[in-house]
Amino acid sequence: MPKVVVLGAAGGIGQPLALLLKANPLVTELSLFDIVNTPGVAADLSHIATPAKVEGFLPPDDGLAKTLKGADIVVIPAGVPRKPGVSYDLFKINAGIVRDLATGIATNAPKAFVLVISNPVNSTVPIVAEVFKKHGVFDPKKLFGVTTLDVVRASTFVAEIAGDLGKAPSVVVPVVGGHSGVTIVPILSQSSLPLPSGFAKSDLEALTYRIQFGGDEVVKAKDGAGSATLSMAYAGAEFATKALKALGGEKGIIAPSYVNLDADKAGGDAVKKQIGKDLEYFSSNVEIGPEGVVKINPLGKLTEYEQSLIVAAVPELATNIEKVCTRGCRS
Ligand code: NAD
Ligand code: LMR
Repeated sequence: MPKVVVLGAAGGIGQPLALLLKANPLVTELSLFDIVNTPGVAADLSHIATPAKVEGFLPPDDGLAKTLKGADIVVIPAGVPRKPGVSYDLFKINAGIVRDLATGIATNAPKAFVLVISNPVNSTVPIVAEVFKKHGVFDPKKLFGVTTLDVVRASTFVAEIAGDLGKAPSVVVPVVGGHSGVTIVPILSQSSLPLPSGFAKSDLEALTYRIQFGGDEVVKAKDGAGSATLSMAYAGAEFATKALKALGGEKGIIAPSYVNLDADKAGGDAVKKQIGKDLEYFSSNVEIGPEGVVKINPLGKLTEYEQSLIVAAVPELATNIEKVCTRGCRS
């Protein structure tokens, strides 16, 4: 205890994420699954002098079941990333991958915390939920869409603007909504490091846009080699560490994340009221404990500009969710 699993562990995110998890002294077992290369990745990591015992599996001989057996936390970065100029339907491909992996989790580790990184997160999280419902094991308190990278970016960019990157690790900026473009809503008025006085409205809009479309910056710079992997691995490891602490009984752990709003009925209803729509999924600051979601925190006081961002995010999110729940997710 605790056993952490990475599904898609040989990929651009999977490998550095597995490295960060192996380096984390809270992890005692690390189990890696991918359709390629996991035995090699596992052998390599297993020589690092930290407590975690590492194993790597491939699909043959029930590899997925063996990987998942006894898992406490399952992180999913499996799936294709965006590439400029390459047109494939990310949703279609990744939906299939995530559905198959979710079936494996529902069968072999239905009580684990599931942390979904695979894009489009706004839709892959409902996909996992639907699979779990079919298997009769859905617990909304234990399913999380990983939006941490948006929060990490917001902290970094705000510290950059303050001219002090040294502050980046401690800057807290709530980012709510979902994880793509306009569904990403940074609440910069609540930043723990206030923006400089006299920060112009145009600067605020530019900063908001940069947080919403930070993924594009990386995709463009990588020029065909994929999307964010290293910053995502950092963000994924940060979320996993919070989950490990929560499982260990530490109180007051806040993990910003995209969750089913039924995970905390009262908190979820308050969020629905504030956004003016009965959405099933939304990301907010969520308190987690040993059984998963303890409380979904409200969005707090928003400026008029932030309210306008919410208004733009909500219909897009609704479409992303409905895409999965064509016959209605509310069973
Ligand atoms: P990648 O192509 O480098 O790695 C993906 C890995 O998934 C590969 O090793 C591949 O073999 C594996 N895989 C494919 N099908 C599988 C299956 N059925 N079972 C197990 N493994 C399987 O891609 P990447 O750059 O690591 O990105 C992975 C995903 O993460 C993409 O969907 C990307 O869009 C998403 N992403 C999300 C965020 C976020 O903030 N949530 C950030 C960056 C990237
Ligand atoms: C990101 O935010 O960097 C990821 O979601 C990857 C992408 O496609 O933008």
